[in-house]
Amino acid sequence: MSTNSLWAGRFTEPIDDLTLRFTSSVAEDGQLYREDIAGSLAHAAMLVRQQILTTEEGEQIAAGLNAILGEIESGAWTPSWRDEDIHMAIESRLTAQIGPTGGKLHTARSRNDQVALDERLWLRRAVGDIRAALAELQSALVDRAEAYRDLVLPGYTHLQRAQPVLLGHHLLAYVEMLSRDDGRFADGERRNNRSPLGAAALAGTPFPIDRAHVADALGFDGIVENSMDAVSDRDGLLEFLSAAAISMMHLSRMCEELVLWSTTEFNFVRLPDAFTTGSSIMPQKKNPDVAELIRGKVGRVYGSLIGLLTTMKGLPLAYNRDMQEDKGPALDAARTLTDSLRILAAMWRRTEFNRDRFTTADMGAGYLTATEIADYLVRRGLPFRDAHHVTGRAVALAQ
Ligand code: ARG
Repeated sequence: MSTNSLWAGRFTEPIDDLTLRFTSSVAEDGQLYREDIAGSLAHAAMLVRQQILTTEEGEQIAAGLNAILGEIESGAWTPSWRDEDIHMAIESRLTAQIGPTGGKLHTARSRNDQVALDERLWLRRAVGDIRAALAELQSALVDRAEAYRDLVLPGYTHLQRAQPVLLGHHLLAYVEMLSRDDGRFADGERRNNRSPLGAAALAGTPFPIDRAHVADALGFDGIVENSMDAVSDRDGLLEFLSAAAISMMHLSRMCEELVLWSTTEFNFVRLPDAFTTGSSIMPQKKNPDVAELIRGKVGRVYGSLIGLLTTMKGLPLAYNRDMQEDKGPALDAARTLTDSLRILAAMWRRTEFNRDRFTTADMGAGYLTATEIADYLVRRGLPFRDAHHVTGRAVALAQ
């Protein structure tokens, strides 16, 4: 009997092997081991404080949990998929190490509030990493804007040359987008940062627990008030995925410009070699794969958002096992976005603009200053519509 040894009381035979593999979430929630242990340490401390466990039991549990944390970090012990999920894996390990006292840790708790807690703790960390990475990318863009502060490039509408703009003006448009992204993550985090622990399976627990104390110890701003909501709500992850999808969309636009700007046709930028790849057959090639991949990875982040929205749709209260499908999308989107931001920041810092492409003669090529000529004629007394017409005729003649 593998996993169901923890609840073997109700069962007469071990779980079918393929079914166990199918239902196991260790591959995903194994990444939440730090959060799971931090949550258990705070829960156990509260149980002692409330005299639900003795001081000695609490000390044994805490020492055991800290030892397990060390084992996972050093690789001395790896949670097995056979334990079904990270919560069961750690509890089994704890009981194997410290004996039956390990079984007291789960007093006044369910995996339903435990997993909700782990996810909220994880999200707080993930959002912190992403916000730092957003700031890194903003700073790299500002750095380029300053390094080329005098550089004027063609501004485009419809991808046709429109009017001259400062490169800094162009780059700072992305800085603005990233600021809004940051605001969305920060805003979601305000709602996320509440502790669901104490909701137990769905209806709370008869033990005299102190939810507020655990919440405080874990750095939450308060508790999730309704126990049924606490175990069945995944809005925090959905808000996170929505913000991540929008942010990746911004990155894909930026990457599309890097791809265009590094073509022979545009020849605006030189991407650093460390962030490009060659071709296995064409020796001259230097491909903007990083920019292309980030543009492409937007698809998986949108997929994660739509996937989890679909998983949650129509679920009756309270917890349903469907919800286990929430971790894959959230983990994947967080990693994809964080990596994309960090790599783009590093790449931008070393991206050089080809000043030869932005000479006055170059800027003349697309009649970029035609609007200025029309404006000049307006200042000399011509109605704008006539000035527009006259300038248009002049451009046609020149062409
Ligand atoms: N692995 C589960 C999940 O991620 C943990 C909660 C399981 N609860 C339960 N009653 N089976 O959703």
